[in-house]
Amino acid sequence: MKIIAFLGSPREKGNSELLLNGVIKAVEDSGFAVQIFNLNKMNISPCQNCGGCEDTGVCVFEDDMAQIFTAIREADRIILASPIYFFGVSAQAKVMIDRCQCFWCEKYLLKRPIPEGPYGRKGLLLLVGGQKKEIGIQCADATAKAFFRTVSVPEHEVLSYLSIDAKGAIINHPTALRDAYEAGKKLVTLTQR
Ligand SMILES: Cc1cc2nc3c(=O)[nH]c(=O)nc-3n(C[C@H](O)[C@H](O)[C@H](O)COP(=O)(O)O)c2cc1C
Repeated sequence: MKIIAFLGSPREKGNSELLLNGVIKAVEDSGFAVQIFNLNKMNISPCQNCGGCEDTGVCVFEDDMAQIFTAIREADRIILASPIYFFGVSAQAKVMIDRCQCFWCEKYLLKRPIPEGPYGRKGLLLLVGGQKKEIGIQCADATAKAFFRTVSVPEHEVLSYLSIDAKGAIINHPTALRDAYEAGKKLVTLTQR
């Protein structure tokens, strides 16, 4: 089973990363490896809406998205971890998501969705916000849902935490890291389909 993870926070050892580490630990304990993309450290240009992918489903830009396109295509499980920024996912996450417009063209214009492998395709969304307002979770999940469906992930679970602001404060949450571990276990557990 191929599992990939996107880290959308620029804060090293921040809350998103700590949550993601909980998920990764569970996946690794289950005998699988996770390919991690630390989006803040990657060279990814924003989508230019140039139309270059419309007839082919292939992005004409050449940067670090090349490795991400391949990984998304081959993945059985996709994890997206992001802080809430201005009621949405972080810019680091959004720039990657927008570049998946080529998958949108491939799926919806060319009618060629990414085929699923023997394990199906599933997603997991991890969100952390410093405020109490639920709207940040709702908006970020709407964006993530559009991303997941575009890359032919028909279902995703959401693990979200609010009122967690200081770097690393998630470790003081009574259940968050345990929740993350359990979500990781569930993500790679094969259910009868
Ligand atoms: C630019 C910026 C915008 C933010 N906007 C929001 C917001 O709209 N809603 C919210 O709940 N928290 C917001 N926060 C707080 C972060 O979501 C919070 O600090 C979170 O714990 C950061 O996670 P990280 O440690 O993984 O980076 C914002 C923080 C920054 C830096």
